[in-house]
Amino acid sequence: MAHQSDPGDLLKMADLLTPAAIRAAATLRLADHLGAGTGDVAKLAELTGTRPDLLELLLRHLRAQGVLTCDDDGVYSVTELGERLREDHPESLRGHLTMDGLHGRAALALVNLLHTVRTGEPAHETVFGRGYWETVNEDPDFVEALEQSATGQQLGWGAELILDSYDWSRVGRVVDVGGHSGTILMELLRRHPHLNGTLVDLKNVAEVAGRRFAAAGLADRTEVVVGSFFEPLPAGGDVYLLSAVLADWPDERATAILRRCARAAGPDGKVLLAEVNLRVPREIPESAALELWLRATMPAPVRSVEQLKALAAAAGLRLVWEGPATSVRSILEFSPC
Ligand SMILES: C[S@@+](CC[C@H](N)C(=O)[O-])C[C@H]1O[C@@H](n2cnc3c(N)ncnc32)[C@H](O)[C@@H]1O
Repeated sequence: MAHQSDPGDLLKMADLLTPAAIRAAATLRLADHLGAGTGDVAKLAELTGTRPDLLELLLRHLRAQGVLTCDDDGVYSVTELGERLREDHPESLRGHLTMDGLHGRAALALVNLLHTVRTGEPAHETVFGRGYWETVNEDPDFVEALEQSATGQQLGWGAELILDSYDWSRVGRVVDVGGHSGTILMELLRRHPHLNGTLVDLKNVAEVAGRRFAAAGLADRTEVVVGSFFEPLPAGGDVYLLSAVLADWPDERATAILRRCARAAGPDGKVLLAEVNLRVPREIPESAALELWLRATMPAPVRSVEQLKALAAAAGLRLVWEGPATSVRSILEFSPC
């Protein structure tokens, strides 16, 4: 039987209000406050620093969506659905839904998806005026979100290839360029006790990495440098590792990063490019949605090995070793020419 379409469905699908209201609730910790027994609008407004009249509208809308409920005295509480907005819920979604969290920042870029579709450029910059990583890394409000996301972080996107396929026995110091909060570097240093590491990244994540290294007892084998890979990188490394970094940059900027690595490595050093390929197989039903998400925040989630080699050549790098590629990751070693 043919599907009967209701024009109202289209309006519901295109609605931006409910997603924004749910994210506002997560950001304001409304479910936590309600769970702790503050169901009265005036008190809630005081606790959350909001205007009572506008907060009431938000609460009423969330009630209409089944996220909250309200008793006859006007006291609100969360429904079973709304419980997931609590921070202490075992399957809490709050971290995913806050507007000022790492996921939230990426999600908000979608409001200008049209820009991405028109130009191929990430929408993020048009919404926030700065690139994704700059907003995350230069804003003190993100430190807590970064600390949380770093806790217990596992290797992702096929990063095992870096640990397993490369011969680290020849290396004294690895410089992890754009090393984020240090998950890969920590694992490398744990597996190879002879190895020392320098991590270079922007302010917030580099500082989180430093604290993680100290907590893991690796402070004496690590150095953390707050800096940009568009500026000169610390010299003295045997290998300059770039893991999952170039996907965030268009060709010209990616070449500039590779050039910085080449210069810092010098004639005896190496550049190890362990780039991701985030193509989502078309057979996966949500593949288009996933790729649109990625493209709204990063310009080049999918580059072939040949394209990576061409970028490296443009940066004055000569291929000396090509490791095994997986569907999500390749690994290429270069020498400055
Ligand atoms: C996708 S993450 C990759 C992190 C890590 N290398 C990995 O494989 O998990 C990109 C990293 O580049 C960093 N980054 C962005 N812009 C940067 C810049 N201008 N200088 C240094 N690091 C930067 C980000 O802070 C982030 O940690």
